[in-house]
Amino acid sequence: MDFSNKLVNWYQVNKRDLPWRNTVNAYFIWLSEIILQQTRVAQGMPYYLAFVKAFPKVEDLANASEDKVLKMWQGLGYYSRARNLHFTAKDIADNYKGKFPNDHQKILKLKGVGAYTAAAITSFAFEMPYAVVDGNVIRVLSRVFGVDIPYDTTLGKKHFAELAQELLLVENASTYNQAIMEFGAMQCKPKSPDCSVCPMQDFCLAYSKNTITELPVKSKKIKVKNRFLHFLMIEESGNVYLGKRKKGIWNGLYEFPFLEFDERLLEKQVMKNEKWSDIFKDSNTELLSVSSEFIHVLSHQKINAQFWHLKVNNVQLENFELIAKKNLLNYPVSRLTEKYFQAIELV
Ligand code: ADE
Repeated sequence: MDFSNKLVNWYQVNKRDLPWRNTVNAYFIWLSEIILQQTRVAQGMPYYLAFVKAFPKVEDLANASEDKVLKMWQGLGYYSRARNLHFTAKDIADNYKGKFPNDHQKILKLKGVGAYTAAAITSFAFEMPYAVVDGNVIRVLSRVFGVDIPYDTTLGKKHFAELAQELLLVENASTYNQAIMEFGAMQCKPKSPDCSVCPMQDFCLAYSKNTITELPVKSKKIKVKNRFLHFLMIEESGNVYLGKRKKGIWNGLYEFPFLEFDERLLEKQVMKNEKWSDIFKDSNTELLSVSSEFIHVLSHQKINAQFWHLKVNNVQLENFELIAKKNLLNYPVSRLTEKYFQAIELV
């Protein structure tokens, strides 16, 4: 039996029962795929269930405020996904009368939807013959077919997309696509897969050549930038300064003012720095605490954050408002800030 049929047979026996697999509602499928990007199933599941419940129709999501959507997204990270999700819900409500498009070209044009997500939606919701290619698929194909072309190059992308498309069972696109992703997630795992129970063992090239640990191949090593952020919870008569971020990974989230350095500084070095004096020069400042470091690792940066709790009597901060400290939990904040709130038992 060939690869594709073996894959589907394996899937029928081993698949997990996941809620987005029991629907052909394109809106729900799109929601699930955006939530599951860069996110494990166990982590994404409660968010998916909460979104479906709060927004049963795409118009419900479109009509929600951005703060509400970001608040519900809190903890999932990569917030541009949530902003694009909200934008696209409004786009579908306004320009498609609330009906999710069923045309591959139109779906691909939606903000936040790339080749992978378009293939997932069209195959799962409409049984259209588009093969998905994600990290799981690349790992399975590179190993079974012994492909050592780096997958993050133009040639590699083209090769994996073509191979995936050739192997797709066009009459059964939805099941085939779910099957190959599930196989990558559950059987052909990144580290120490149990090849002794694998149905592909007889013809898997990586298995016969003992190259499982070397595949798939990636060309670029990403350079990770270290950032040192000192967030300032500046308290004045029961209120704290909070601002809404307008750019970058935390666009739309609320944050404390912060000082940024490209090296790790001691507390006293921070307090001697001119960035510090700019804020606190005219104020009596009482330092109540400095947290330990909270680390947040992203694809291109490692953020090392400390939170300072200060009491002041006279600071001027443009673009920040004073809000009641007891209302802090109502605002969508980054995962780092949320962890700090948990550490100081504000939550
Ligand atoms: N990860 C991304 N999409 C998925 C899906 N449809 N099922 C399981 N895991 C996934």
